[in-house]
Amino acid sequence: MERTAAVVLAAGKGSRMESTIHKQYMELCGRPLLYHTLRAFEESSVDEVVLVTGPGEVSFCRTEIVDRYGFRKITDVTEGGKERYHSVYAGLKAVKNCAYVLIHDGARPCVTKEIIDTSKAGAMKYGACVIGMPVKDTIKISDENGYAASTPDRASLWQIQTPQAFRYDLVFKAYQRLMESECFQKGVTDDAMVVESMTEEKVKLIKGDYTNIKVTTPEDLEIASVFLNRIYGKK
Ligand code: CTP
Ligand code: MG
Repeated sequence: MERTAAVVLAAGKGSRMESTIHKQYMELCGRPLLYHTLRAFEESSVDEVVLVTGPGEVSFCRTEIVDRYGFRKITDVTEGGKERYHSVYAGLKAVKNCAYVLIHDGARPCVTKEIIDTSKAGAMKYGACVIGMPVKDTIKISDENGYAASTPDRASLWQIQTPQAFRYDLVFKAYQRLMESECFQKGVTDDAMVVESMTEEKVKLIKGDYTNIKVTTPEDLEIASVFLNRIYGKK
């Protein structure tokens, strides 16, 4: 059986959270937010987890997260970079010997074993896939003066989440090309964009769950705690 790795990203500064402590370490349901994310991967069918943390946070994460909670699937804790794509590249380089890799935002603690396994199955079937959900609100594109310029057809719009899952060789090659071409780096917000623009491969959209939110601003902590309590209550 071919092995699958996960790269969990936790090297961001959480500026939109406006907190003195980085959001991935803030307390959520009695544990650091990042604990919940890693626990889902620990319970899933992935074989190996690489944790990417901020500069100077590696030893803190090793003792306070990996050792403290006994995460056995974490094979490496490595330092990320300035932008998310730098952190992803660092994580991909630290992956050992895997045919598939799932890239996940550490700031999505409500991810479940089921979503992770769906994402992994999607990578095996399609080579490249992202978890997302159909958009519920109408989306408008604004002009430079803040007036509505156009309204894309909502039926074809998806809001994209993570995990984003790929054949390892495909996504690694895409990231290598991205790192070599600075002009493509502007505005890169997810991994599918990198594969879309740097390779010929098509990325399949797979339905996940509306509860798999990214904790970004303070109210998201309250929402995440409701969803997490539901996840733990079900066990
Ligand atoms: N991330 C990372 N390295 C970076 C930037 C982001 O590993 N240089 C990670 C974050 O830790 C997070 C995920 O990528 O788990 C999604 O990013 P985002 O929600 O934007 O988190 P932050 O960049 O930390 O927050 P903000 O943009 O508000 O500063
Ligand atoms: Mg960010």
